[in-house]
Amino acid sequence: MAKVFDEISRTFDEYLLIPNLTTRDCTPSKVSLTTSLSRHRESEAPLRLNIPIVSAIMQSVSNHALAIELSKSGGMSFIFCSQPIGRQVDMVRKVKSYKAGFVTSDSNLEPDNTLADLLKLKEKTGHSTVAVTDDGEPDGRLLGIITSKDYRVTRDPLDKKVSDFMTPFSRLVYGKTGTTLTEANDILWKSKIDCLPIVNDRGNLVYLVFRKDYVEHKENEGELLDNEKRLLVGAGVNTWDYSERVPALVEAGADILCIDSSHGYTEWQSDTLKYVKDKYGDSVKAGAGNIVDPEGFLYLTKAGADFVKVGIGGGSICITREQRAIGRGQATAILDVAKARDRYLEETGTYVPICSDGGISHDHQIALALAMGADFVMLGRYFARFDESPSKKIVEGNQYLKEYWGEGTNKAQNWQRYDLGDGKNALLFEEGVDGYVPYAGKLKDNLEITLAKIRAAMSACGAASIKEFQQNARLTVVSSRTIQEGGVHDVITKET
Ligand code: IMP
Repeated sequence: MAKVFDEISRTFDEYLLIPNLTTRDCTPSKVSLTTSLSRHRESEAPLRLNIPIVSAIMQSVSNHALAIELSKSGGMSFIFCSQPIGRQVDMVRKVKSYKAGFVTSDSNLEPDNTLADLLKLKEKTGHSTVAVTDDGEPDGRLLGIITSKDYRVTRDPLDKKVSDFMTPFSRLVYGKTGTTLTEANDILWKSKIDCLPIVNDRGNLVYLVFRKDYVEHKENEGELLDNEKRLLVGAGVNTWDYSERVPALVEAGADILCIDSSHGYTEWQSDTLKYVKDKYGDSVKAGAGNIVDPEGFLYLTKAGADFVKVGIGGGSICITREQRAIGRGQATAILDVAKARDRYLEETGTYVPICSDGGISHDHQIALALAMGADFVMLGRYFARFDESPSKKIVEGNQYLKEYWGEGTNKAQNWQRYDLGDGKNALLFEEGVDGYVPYAGKLKDNLEITLAKIRAAMSACGAASIKEFQQNARLTVVSSRTIQEGGVHDVITKET
């Protein structure tokens, strides 16, 4: 007969935290959010995150732009793998070559483009500074720069060529490759300009430095940096083309990999981990998943996983439970796997971090996931809402929305994530939906509020670190009436 687990499968909202004594040592500003990202023995230093948040391995979430912004705030992205290897490698390279304050020009035109083309480009990218290069590429020979001071939409004809009104290279103040950020900023101030192009010896555009970024960079003290002061970035891999994808990503500088699958308790995840460990030993880190129980955790841990991702069927765009009846309440899964992780530590002296993946719809649920034993959380919907995510922003009625689609949709075409070894190379049915999320603005502004809430929850539970939170948190299961009591009730709220 089939085994039926005694315990009900529960989710985050069925729990609350009971406060502990808050001492002067754990006020919110003293709470540390650093956490382990990779397997380690107690005496060893693991790879670490400065905040316990990573972004999902999804087309609509984790590209280079989001990865740069998240890493600047102390978290990390896993660049999606449902794209050709070369494109994924380019994204990883863009993050690793990112120099604070130096940006690759995203808005570029050729000299023969017109004012109409310029206006269309500005609407698409939202940038007011546009580089004119010989081939319209971000690294083409720089011919000029256009800012809003160079044209008048009310007077200039729409077919006027950009070469006729751009500020030409001969009149530009520019810097050469090798210019430091401090030097670039000095030039910006002395020349009273807002944007400084940096060109190489051949006159090709390399970067733009903006005056406004100087202030912003000074504010990013929690950046997640490697030994060479480059931002950290992760990358997703699959169990199909790993012998080509992994070496390319490692060579591009990915700091950690993660096998991306809706069902990770498989022999092919073990094969993929074996490939990575045989080829690179400990020098290349790779997480695996997703699983929802101790058996899955131990299987992947013994196969060499550097962290294990927990969660099946809870994602906001996910219909895996409806389609395949596979999954487990996220809270129960985390609590059960965290127990196995702690037992494994006691038995072997090795700590293997776990990541709670999917289903976080409110900030407070991140605190619950950490209290339950997660070392960090992976978020998709949360990040899809921000300016930096790769998806399109649209207006619907009086609301701004951003597109958000699952990796299990026909749109994403990521059959590798769902394939169960039959080699059909196609999605036979969808496991995700294609939809929208409310647009929420800049990543940094939203993340600050989220982190403040996590710190406040930890402080109320008397925890100054994630380790202490995991060890000392007290949780209670709540009734549906208690949940009702926790919301606003018996008042008429004012429209704000
Ligand atoms: P969210 O944060 O609730 O939006 O969940 C994001 C997570 O959902 C990802 O990290 C994946 O584990 C999972 N996921 C992504 N795409 C799909 C899909 O199409 N179907 C099911 N799960 C998905």
